[in-house]
Amino acid sequence: MDIVNPALNDYLLAHATPADEVLRDLAAETAERLPGHLSMQITQDEGALLTLLTRLVGARRALEVGTFTGYSSLSIARGLAPGGTLLACDISEEWTDIARRYWERAGVADRIELRLGPAADTLRALPEEESFDLAFIDADKVGYPVYYEEALRRLRPGGLILLDNTLRSGRVVDPGAQDPADRAIREINDHVTADPRVESVLLPMRDGLTLVRKAG
Ligand SMILES: C[S@@+](CC[C@H](N)C(=O)[O-])C[C@H]1O[C@@H](n2cnc3c(N)ncnc32)[C@H](O)[C@@H]1O
Repeated sequence: MDIVNPALNDYLLAHATPADEVLRDLAAETAERLPGHLSMQITQDEGALLTLLTRLVGARRALEVGTFTGYSSLSIARGLAPGGTLLACDISEEWTDIARRYWERAGVADRIELRLGPAADTLRALPEEESFDLAFIDADKVGYPVYYEEALRRLRPGGLILLDNTLRSGRVVDPGAQDPADRAIREINDHVTADPRVESVLLPMRDGLTLVRKAG
């Protein structure tokens, strides 16, 4: 399902802060080396939004679940307040090795700590204190309910969680779409909407991006 028509799509991409050379090269290398996985990477306009939102919340401590080759982590890291850090979680050494090279090149490697392993284990092993200002969740969809709860309990009041792919290419409104990922996304969308601890909105940005602000 095309959420916006192709002409408007091009217009949207042309009217977000352009990617710089590092992000353009990262997108190009991902396309060349991992063509079958390219759709996993966030787009230039979503990257611009991540940088902007990170700045808007004044994030000093951020969390990412799902790093891949590093486009979103680089976008978040660039928006961090001085001295800020990002904890990036993934299971793939191969894909995050690409990310590490681009973090170095962009001069943000010292702001990013990568933890390899199932993100549910990584998150559960973190201290319980409310230390994150912003969390971006973009890994395996069946894990979203756990990632949301583990991130929310460690988010400061007023902090922001971003959930990517919450429209599942429109499958959220297709009753025939019943694979485990489709079900998990419908579950988390309904859960977030009814959650009294937060306020939220699901934006038609790309494949759907839900913004969740923790009350307080
Ligand atoms: C959609 S991609 C992330 C794209 C990335 N945010 C970007 O902008 O390029 C999903 C990532 O989640 C990772 N992943 C899948 N299952 C995971 C798990 N259980 N724990 C941690 N990461 C996982 C994959 O290795 C993959 O890199």
